[in-house]
Amino acid sequence: MISCPGIEKNTIRNHYNVTTLFYRLLWGRHIHHGLWSGSESPRVAAQQLTERVVKEAGVKQGDRVLDVGCGMGGSSIHMASLLKCDVTGVTISSFQRRWATMASWTSGTSGRTTFLCDDAEKIELPVESFDVVWSIECTEHLFDKAAFFQRAASWLKPGGRIAICAWLAGDEPLNETGRQLVADVCEGFFCPSLGTTADYKAWMQNAGLSMVSTHDWTDQVSRTWEICRDRVRSTSMHKVARIIDRGQLIFLDRFQTILDAYNTRAMQYGCFIAEKKA
Ligand SMILES: C[S@@+](CC[C@H](N)C(=O)[O-])C[C@H]1O[C@@H](n2cnc3c(N)ncnc32)[C@H](O)[C@@H]1O
Repeated sequence: MISCPGIEKNTIRNHYNVTTLFYRLLWGRHIHHGLWSGSESPRVAAQQLTERVVKEAGVKQGDRVLDVGCGMGGSSIHMASLLKCDVTGVTISSFQRRWATMASWTSGTSGRTTFLCDDAEKIELPVESFDVVWSIECTEHLFDKAAFFQRAASWLKPGGRIAICAWLAGDEPLNETGRQLVADVCEGFFCPSLGTTADYKAWMQNAGLSMVSTHDWTDQVSRTWEICRDRVRSTSMHKVARIIDRGQLIFLDRFQTILDAYNTRAMQYGCFIAEKKA
């Protein structure tokens, strides 16, 4: 694991309160990578990532799903709509909670979704109450990832599954250049640390979960950052961001850094599916 001291929870909360509108304009309703197999549009690629995780996790009709770090509710609403899942989404951002609630209402799924503004590292949820604990690109922001997996495992019903997509530090040993790239990404995107594939597997196994599958999607997702970099360069997004909040500008300048990290394998993108014993 590579840590980035100095990141504060409040900065993460602030980041999403301030920048969610930017992400929406830049990328669409999902705040996660696209998953490409050909020349799909970014919007289609982002939706494909959600759909692929649904498939890998084996999410079933009517499942009770907890979406940790639900963003604007893109995945929650997809599962509520397509599979009639009963989804609870949690986000640290009050802005996102309101957005997700509205989006669910306009998509006709509000009866099957509940969005909460809370900290996934503190929230109290009933034990053994979810068929699926789902989290796409949120665990990067958590301070005690091992403890989170213990809590997540307790929320799962016996036989339930956890589905995680995460930005990862590359496999050890990483050289100094690689470590610096990861540290720069952590700083730019407000991640207190990035775990490796081995870390994530150990955290899940130590929480009593059995690994079902592990996927390295680095090469299929990295195009995300070429597109974001080019879109930011060709629009006035920098100027608008500067007016709104200078402190949030930093992530707009780190798109090339994350690309370099993926291209050199200093970072990887992983999906993990694990199961609680029935
Ligand atoms: C990169 S976005 C991903 C959003 C969403 N999963 C998606 O795929 O569109 C990260 C999400 O994690 C949430 N988050 C970060 N730290 C959190 C915490 N401690 N508790 C709950 N949510 C958190 C943010 O509010 C944001 O919704």
